[in-house]
Amino acid sequence: MKLLVIGSGGREHALAWRLSRSKRVHKVFVAPGNGGTARDPNLHNVELTDPQALAQFAQSEGIALTVVGPEAPLAAGVVDVFRQQGLKIFGPTRAAAQLESSKDYAKAFMMRHGIPTAAYETFTDPAAAHAYIDKQGAPIVVKADGLAAGKGVVVAATEQEAHEAVDAMLGDGSLGAAGARVVIEECLQGEEASFIVLADGRNVLALATSQDHKRLRDGDTGPNTGGMGAYSPAPVVTPELHHRIMREIILPTMQGMARDGIPYTGFLYAGLMIAPGEDPGRPIKVLEYNCRMGDPETQPIMMRIKSDLLDVLENAVEGKLDQAEITWDRRTALGVVLAAANYPQSPRTGDVIEGLPPDNDECMVFHAGTRDTGKAIETAGGRVLCVTALGDSVRMARERAYETVERVRFDGRQYRGDIGWRALKRPQGPRA
Ligand code: AMP
Ligand code: GLY
Repeated sequence: MKLLVIGSGGREHALAWRLSRSKRVHKVFVAPGNGGTARDPNLHNVELTDPQALAQFAQSEGIALTVVGPEAPLAAGVVDVFRQQGLKIFGPTRAAAQLESSKDYAKAFMMRHGIPTAAYETFTDPAAAHAYIDKQGAPIVVKADGLAAGKGVVVAATEQEAHEAVDAMLGDGSLGAAGARVVIEECLQGEEASFIVLADGRNVLALATSQDHKRLRDGDTGPNTGGMGAYSPAPVVTPELHHRIMREIILPTMQGMARDGIPYTGFLYAGLMIAPGEDPGRPIKVLEYNCRMGDPETQPIMMRIKSDLLDVLENAVEGKLDQAEITWDRRTALGVVLAAANYPQSPRTGDVIEGLPPDNDECMVFHAGTRDTGKAIETAGGRVLCVTALGDSVRMARERAYETVERVRFDGRQYRGDIGWRALKRPQGPRA
């Protein structure tokens, strides 16, 4: 069988790599792919991004199944285009992808269906937004309504920062249409976790839990990024919390979408805030929905899948997820992102990458912003690589990942030295 993965990041490299290990898969195309997918003999890059052109390619190549990585093609309706042409694709329709593409839609959806989330209000009028901030005080969170490539959320420690965020979004239009509406919400405290499921419109299958590291620098300091590292499983999600998340958040989300006449298919990522403490009844609230897998969470998750991922995805597109099951490697997988100089502001590109090791099932270097020039692999984006390793404990996975991190070099490389710190701090308990 031939498969197609849409996207060009580390998430797509990991998805395509895992799919290429399926016994029935003969070729995996990645559109447009990156330097890592170019280098892998089992993967083939195709220079396409337009939904119509992708569907035409899928028709002419006889692609058996397409999997969509990032949110932009989903919000542009790539799933609708493929389905209209009778092509099999795993992802949400454009209407369902609004759970990510409009924060206001997502918040109103959660309110309507009783799904726990931070208290909020939505504004288009700057004066009303400023007045709300004055009334609520800081800390407070200001979010652009639309897709803003990770730049749309300001967690404001002071009222002044919140006012500035409103001015930037509603005032000078720096985020364009994405910022023409803002959601202002209560700032939640606690520990974040990424909870990702597959959905077929009726049934859901949870993937292993994971945790991201959003800030650029050690100790969760510095600016927000797309994610600087992740590991799976996330011990904060105990079996009890796992059960509650399914019951209080995931199932009501699926039922709510079905009731609204927009059945949800595809990956669904609930970004959660778990209140501090150890009380198994403590609040768990949704920070955001993403209508796709996380990046870099996908990289450790893919390293741990022992089942044939194609079987699972086929069940998902056929509405038979109730018959699917995933076997997980019991070990921990941990991924460290290597980012380019000046990331996240304006990453420098064109630096030559040296010391890349050969692929190895215990430690993979997934590529993101890289380009194969024929002579060398160069940096070509903000997040460049994600070095992901398996180990019998968080500590061992981390040691193995950092051994490789230290060997892979390019000018201006930035990475965090403390990926996994929250898991290392926790007493070892039962795992979900
Ligand atoms: P989002 O794109 O909505 O996930 O926001 C990006 C990041 O901002 C999240 O991963 C959190 O770290 C932070 N964040 C978003 N909403 C809140 C909130 N209500 N309270 C505290 N932090 C938040
Ligand atoms: N790593 C967070 C995200 O993919 O949105």
